[in-house]
Amino acid sequence: MSEKLRVGVIGCGSMARHHVRGYLNSGRFEVVALADLSEEAMAQFDEELGLSAKHYTDAREMLDRENLDVVSVGVWHSGHATWTVAAAARRPKAILCEKPMAETLQRAEQMLIACRRNDVKLAIGHQRRFLPVYTLARDLIAEGAIGSVELIQSFGAQGLPNFCSHQTDMFRYLLGDDECEWVMGNVERKTDRYERTTRIEDAAIAVFQFRGGARAMILCDVTPLVYQGAHIYGSEGMIDLTTTELRLLNESTGGAWQLHRPDGKFFKLEEQGRRFEWVEGGAGQADELADWVEGIVETHRGRGENGYKALEMIHAVYESARCHEKVILPMQTRVNPLDLMVESGHLAPQRPGRYDIRAFLLHGERLWTDGSTEEPDLD
Ligand SMILES: NC(=O)c1ccc[n+]([C@@H]2O[C@H](COP(=O)([O-])OP(=O)(O)OC[C@H]3O[C@@H](n4cnc5c(N)ncnc54)[C@H](O)[C@@H]3O)[C@@H](O)[C@H]2O)c1
Repeated sequence: MSEKLRVGVIGCGSMARHHVRGYLNSGRFEVVALADLSEEAMAQFDEELGLSAKHYTDAREMLDRENLDVVSVGVWHSGHATWTVAAAARRPKAILCEKPMAETLQRAEQMLIACRRNDVKLAIGHQRRFLPVYTLARDLIAEGAIGSVELIQSFGAQGLPNFCSHQTDMFRYLLGDDECEWVMGNVERKTDRYERTTRIEDAAIAVFQFRGGARAMILCDVTPLVYQGAHIYGSEGMIDLTTTELRLLNESTGGAWQLHRPDGKFFKLEEQGRRFEWVEGGAGQADELADWVEGIVETHRGRGENGYKALEMIHAVYESARCHEKVILPMQTRVNPLDLMVESGHLAPQRPGRYDIRAFLLHGERLWTDGSTEEPDLD
């Protein structure tokens, strides 16, 4: 058995907890250092996760001192590129950064360049690729169980970048990482709405066309029905997918819904209940990262290029609304088109007053950050 990989975490918040649980549950990592602006956040990590890691309030100091094999980036979206590029410059073996990959395609591209230049493996945390039920759906589609996929329908909320980048990533995963050819959509933004300091819309609708012929659709903040998963309509059957179960209907099921609730590689669904998708997704994601670092697999399902494409599909919806056109991928606009629309006055909020739907995550008396990409003053 090879030695455990030394991990340092930047940003000890709610999602980085799942990274750490994933590392520990896979049994192949040792979490040796934590960096956060809040000492309290790091102390909580040690207590909840049974760590005895070194603490740093300056993440660069941690990167310089700890000789890390793996760096987890768990700060908010606007810090993903800053900290991935900073970590890459210190040449760990791999970086696991949360989604959405960055606040602009330009910054996401810089993350890819920095990791390539320094020979660092980069994965983006779309951990649902490791849910057994998602992989079952992908395999059934590849086997032709529902014929050719005609429509994948998903329902999101809380803005496109956060919730729905999981869905754009899922579309590609279900379709064997097929490429999205074009995107057309529209957004409504009457209020000055943000999510973790990223500007978001009030509601959105989008259509995605894939090279192999499949089409997908997201209704975001439009319907009361919201979940991770999809209705998948094929020429010879249907799949109804959630994060824990899959129902298949085709000729071989006699036209009736056939239920599948697969266990994971690490955990049993019945034993974990609602925790299953987090513990199984986190452990699978970490385990494949160790495989990638150790050369057991050629690549990682969540590799940076896939994270980039999930973000590109989201920003293409904004670009379609901005330019009133069908946007052909790859996208050439590298800034965030929603920011462009708002800042140019094209889409000025009609009900002024900025608010953040994740303000409750901030520490102490803070309900606000200035949105800076470097080091938000949180404490
Ligand atoms: N993959 C998923 O399903 C999933 C789910 C939830 C959140 N996320 C993503 O995870 C990211 C973090 O979200 P969260 O809910 O965990 O946020 P959070 O507020 O709980 O945690 C962020 C942490 O980063 C720390 N931080 C901020 N600036 C820092 C800096 N310069 N140096 C060190 N630490 C710093 C904060 O003090 C805080 O503890 C977001 O990008 C979000 O989209 C992903």
